[in-house]
Amino acid sequence: MQQEYLLEMRGIDKAFTGVKALTKVDFSVKRGEVHALMGENGAGKSTLIKVLTGIYHKDAGTIIFDGQEIAPKTALAAQALGISTIYQELNLVPFQTVYENIYMGREPRTKVGTIDRRRMIRDARQVLEGMGIAIDVQEPLRRYSTAIQQMVAIARALTINAKLVVMDEPTSSLDAKEVQVLFDVIRRLKAQGIAIIFISHRLSEIFEICERVTVLRNGELAGVFDIEELDTQTLVNSMLGRSFTNAQRSKGGYAYDEAEELARLEGISWNVRLNGIGVDIKKGEILGLAGLLGSGRTELCNILFGSEPPDDGSIFWLDQPGDIRNPRDAIRLGMGYCTEDRKVEGLFLHLSVKDNLTMAMLPQLTKKGVVQKKKQDAIVQQYIDRLKIKTPSSEQLVRYLSGGNQQKVLLARWMCMNPKLIILDEPTRGIDVGAKAEIEALIQEFSANGISVLMISSEMEELVRNCDRIVVMRDGKKLGELTDERITMDDIMDTISHGASAILLAKEGEQA
Ligand SMILES: Nc1ncnc2c1ncn2[C@@H]1O[C@H](COP(=O)(O)OP(=O)(O)OP(=O)(O)O)[C@@H](O)[C@H]1O
Ligand SMILES: [Mg+2]
Repeated sequence: MQQEYLLEMRGIDKAFTGVKALTKVDFSVKRGEVHALMGENGAGKSTLIKVLTGIYHKDAGTIIFDGQEIAPKTALAAQALGISTIYQELNLVPFQTVYENIYMGREPRTKVGTIDRRRMIRDARQVLEGMGIAIDVQEPLRRYSTAIQQMVAIARALTINAKLVVMDEPTSSLDAKEVQVLFDVIRRLKAQGIAIIFISHRLSEIFEICERVTVLRNGELAGVFDIEELDTQTLVNSMLGRSFTNAQRSKGGYAYDEAEELARLEGISWNVRLNGIGVDIKKGEILGLAGLLGSGRTELCNILFGSEPPDDGSIFWLDQPGDIRNPRDAIRLGMGYCTEDRKVEGLFLHLSVKDNLTMAMLPQLTKKGVVQKKKQDAIVQQYIDRLKIKTPSSEQLVRYLSGGNQQKVLLARWMCMNPKLIILDEPTRGIDVGAKAEIEALIQEFSANGISVLMISSEMEELVRNCDRIVVMRDGKKLGELTDERITMDDIMDTISHGASAILLAKEGEQA
């Protein structure tokens, strides 16, 4: 007879130098269920997954999978057992083609034993089309956006004959539409009797797609709940070990009639992604850029920050032509830019929390060529406390921090500089609810101190909660602006959806 549980992990311990990541954790997944794994940044979710899939070796405990005790030594060994994983840090090879990435390490062979490329290409295309994604599978993966790369990782997991699919924050770089595409895929897998472990910090997703949830807190089991009998407050309390409420900003607080302008972009065109767009930013306002992936929001920020020269159009700073030829110019004017891809453009994984955090403000900290250590330490400690960055010390290498805690370090780097304008692209990606509230409070504090904030978020609630004004974009153009009581989810969606379609996704790939 088949057991009710596909997976039972019992008494799992795992320690790293200076960190007890997991203590006596029990975790079990039923056949064919979608099971959420939740907890604050650094609670131990990814570590538990890595112990299951052979990336880390447990210090103690047992793992029973499909009726057998297992101890996979490598990710491939776990795969062979029927456990397919999408890791938080995508383990794809950007320079190889999409189809090669999907079949890496298990390429189909022809009768004569050579790699069957025709079949790989055909099958890869079919899987992606089944997910509603029309891209050229023969292109190198790096040509596509993070979201599409995420979808490719998912396609890869789907083509492995799995009994269990593990997804560690698959949605953190997806927008609302793509999340639904993923959820359709999940429902299809479930219908085939495949179990899924789903990790996400977005509570609404947990309630939409999962049946049960296991909560970890500080490396220990905090609770197991049936979603049907669970409410948000109970879940959040269990995660944080305390109760909590979200800061809601009062709408219409910003006095636009008296507002002074800080920066203005006029008629900006770039590549085919920005088409004559104009946006102005007032002093001390929180301006949101809303739109689906591929609408040109990130590109616009890149141009403002000097990372890309526009093909056409001009930028003004305090009403003067802004001579912004590279990011250094932008930083000198008083801009800070927290980019969306923390690994590629942001963090130095081999450097410490302290060095990463104070990197941009080093000139401010240096006197006669000497870094003022006391001042540096004080600032680092202040941000570690304020953003609750979970690290054994400020000397810990960023590589060893959990995903969400890495994101906090990157945010802190720009926040501690006291810029005139801070650009935040997906600032709370992968950040737990408690820390998110703290970051939103900081954003609001900035604005109260006259610092302007330009923010992009694929979580519309986040824009609605925080922004004074929202510019809605599509296809590199401005569709409209929302202020005061018009800042609602419905108004944003209405503005976007006049003609928007899923084709955008595919198009973004083509233009990359
Ligand atoms: N290789 C490692 N070396 C040292 N410490 C580590 C290592 N991997 C993880 N840790 C630590 O173990 C703890 C748990 O990390 P883990 O990545 O499992 O958290 P998480 O729940 O996935 O968090 P997030 O939501 O931020 O992704 C953290 O304190 C982290 O810094
Ligand atoms: Mg993690």
